[in-house]
Amino acid sequence: METVLVLGATSDIGIAIAKKFASKKYNIQLAARKPAQLEAVQSDIKIRTGVYCTVHEFDALQYHTHASFFESLNPKPDVTISIFGIMDDEEDAFNDWALTERMINTNYTGAVSILNVAAKHYISIKKGDIIGISSVAGDRGRASKLIYGSSKAAFSAYLAGLRNKCFKENVHVMTVKPGFVYTRMTENIPLPKPLTSTPAELADIVYNGFEKKKNVIYVKWFWHYIMLIIKNIPEFQFKKMKL
Ligand SMILES: NC(=O)c1ccc[n+]([C@@H]2O[C@H](COP(=O)([O-])OP(=O)(O)OC[C@H]3O[C@@H](n4cnc5c(N)ncnc54)[C@H](OP(=O)(O)O)[C@@H]3O)[C@@H](O)[C@H]2O)c1
Repeated sequence: METVLVLGATSDIGIAIAKKFASKKYNIQLAARKPAQLEAVQSDIKIRTGVYCTVHEFDALQYHTHASFFESLNPKPDVTISIFGIMDDEEDAFNDWALTERMINTNYTGAVSILNVAAKHYISIKKGDIIGISSVAGDRGRASKLIYGSSKAAFSAYLAGLRNKCFKENVHVMTVKPGFVYTRMTENIPLPKPLTSTPAELADIVYNGFEKKKNVIYVKWFWHYIMLIIKNIPEFQFKKMKL
């Protein structure tokens, strides 16, 4: 039985993805900065699916711990999924460097730090899967997602580069770009229902994409076309728009 490492397992999306892989008989390693909060999810997964499910402490911002964290996992995961991320209020972040720095360092630097470790392991054994949850917000820079969007753009570019680096090593990297998802992150934002997915819907799409070895998936699929339109708006026009 293969094992999946879920980084950011207290997130609504993380829980849904962990449950989806568990339902497909993968053993699960749940990792989060507050592991005590994972006890209920851990027993739920064990009872419902009968797979092994362990809990691990992981903080994306503690880069110096990432190598020893990954080293401590037994067994090493066959699939590593990076889900953690933060989206602070953009005006607050613009006015407070500490918030900007935390957002960039969580969404980009922390993800690169741990995924470099995972990728080196997979390259050494010539086998493995990495999945990164980025965002459609990274597809084009705009005022309302200034820092969050640029951190996700950097993460998407990293995942594309990692996919290219790992391809010849039999290691697959999949980029996931969700549009809107109903989670704790978006609970105070009114979301348009037809454009929004539930974490469970997202988890199904991620699992299907993983099985088919997709490179980049949009959740839901039509976000690909929405972002294609947005990316093709000429800059002289785009800069005047309020998006
Ligand atoms: N919701 C959406 O509409 C949407 C759209 C596109 C992309 N996404 C992306 O989807 C991913 C999951 O987000 P979500 O919507 O499920 O939101 P969420 O429920 O707020 O989850 C965010 C997760 O990130 C974790 N986290 C934050 N800082 C961390 C750190 N330093 N170390 C380890 N974990 C840390 C949080 O852990 P704690 O429980 O400890 O706070 C939490 O588990 C994020 O990368 C987000 O950017 C979401």
